Amino acid sequence: MKKPEDWKLVCIGCGAAAETELPDSTCRQCGDLLEIRLSRGVDRKSLFETKGPGIWRFVGALPFSADIEPVSLGEGGTPLVRAERLASKVGLRDLYAKNDGQNPTGSFKDRGISVAVTRARTLGSKALVCASTGNTAASLAAYAARAGMNAVVVVPRARVASGKLGQAFAYGARVFGIDGNFDQALATVFDLVRKDSRFYLMNSVNPFRIEGQKITAFEIYEQLGRVPDFVVLPVGNAGNISAIWKGFKELRSGGVTDSQPKMIGVQAEGAAPLAKAALSGEPFRPLKDPQTVASAIRIGNPVSWRKALKAIGESEGRAVTVSDEEIMKAKESLAQDEGILVEAASAAPFAALAKLKLPQDARVVCIATGNGLKDLHDHGGNQRIETASGSDAIVDAIGDWH
Ligand SMILES: Cc1ncc(COP(=O)(O)O)c(C=O)c1O
Ligand SMILES: [Zn+2]
Repeated sequence: MKKPEDWKLVCIGCGAAAETELPDSTCRQCGDLLEIRLSRGVDRKSLFETKGPGIWRFVGALPFSADIEPVSLGEGGTPLVRAERLASKVGLRDLYAKNDGQNPTGSFKDRGISVAVTRARTLGSKALVCASTGNTAASLAAYAARAGMNAVVVVPRARVASGKLGQAFAYGARVFGIDGNFDQALATVFDLVRKDSRFYLMNSVNPFRIEGQKITAFEIYEQLGRVPDFVVLPVGNAGNISAIWKGFKELRSGGVTDSQPKMIGVQAEGAAPLAKAALSGEPFRPLKDPQTVASAIRIGNPVSWRKALKAIGESEGRAVTVSDEEIMKAKESLAQDEGILVEAASAAPFAALAKLKLPQDARVVCIATGNGLKDLHDHGGNQRIETASGSDAIVDAIGDWH
């Protein structure tokens, strides 16, 4: 296929421009990841003059012509919610949650999946495939349905939140389980796309995914009216931290902004290969058997590790780890202090605030990456219902509020 002229694929390792997209989205010369560089001159200031819902209003910053018909479900444009009670608990004045759980399938993945499915359609692909800890599966299944394509997802058997799996089935995906973890599921999918050219790879190694997810930075800048001092987010396969950093860098290089946030990547203690490398300064080493209650970030071999370390380094940010206990406490606090229900992985950045000791007057945005409705079994359900024989019993049981 002839490549459009106003963007190119460049290897982040050796800098080679890729002539064509390979099925596994990696550089033919050195095997590293590719990224998209727009070569068209974009007047990024005018980007913000276009109003409208979601990511596609920023098509001028995406690798498509302005008349593209996107595969869209209205993704992006999620609320930036001020979290005052939580802020005061962790000694901050200006804390915000970017609530990406309000995307069409309940996670930030929809931004990137919309863009990558749109790309797949322009290539004439019929089948989309991904490995997933759950959210990518749900998102891919929905957007494949929207585009009239087939969806195949590979998941770690018996380790995916039932809500996410239910979504994938409801949207009509074929779901395959492997007896292994996410990293092994991804290796299986790499094998599959290299062998069978009918499949289009939808994991975040796909640089079109990153393009969709970078729009989060544009939205935060617009909603806040300035660049935040810190962006704090959970890191699993490390696509989102790379994407959001790319967005902020493009805003700066396009002359829209003159500063950039420090990117803070948060990993669970038992699944922290990136944080370990960033904190120790030692070379990155994958972790064989990652463990954490936060299944979305239970990843030992993050494919975008190099991009993520660059994001943290270039932004003068940090990496930090949090325990499962701290994650679950933050999840409860976010729900009960602010009314924002997230899944466990998405609570990790909020858990990190307590130990990061950021300056009190810093403007801090945490990315609430996924909706807690997918993971409700954490909360006990039926077993926690209190018995009431009538209204008096309720009044008695409650007593005084404080
Ligand atoms: C809710 C949630 N948060 C965070 C992540 C981690 O994102 P990334 O893999 O881009 O680092 C995921 C990935 O599955 C996720 O589903
Ligand atoms: Zn290369």
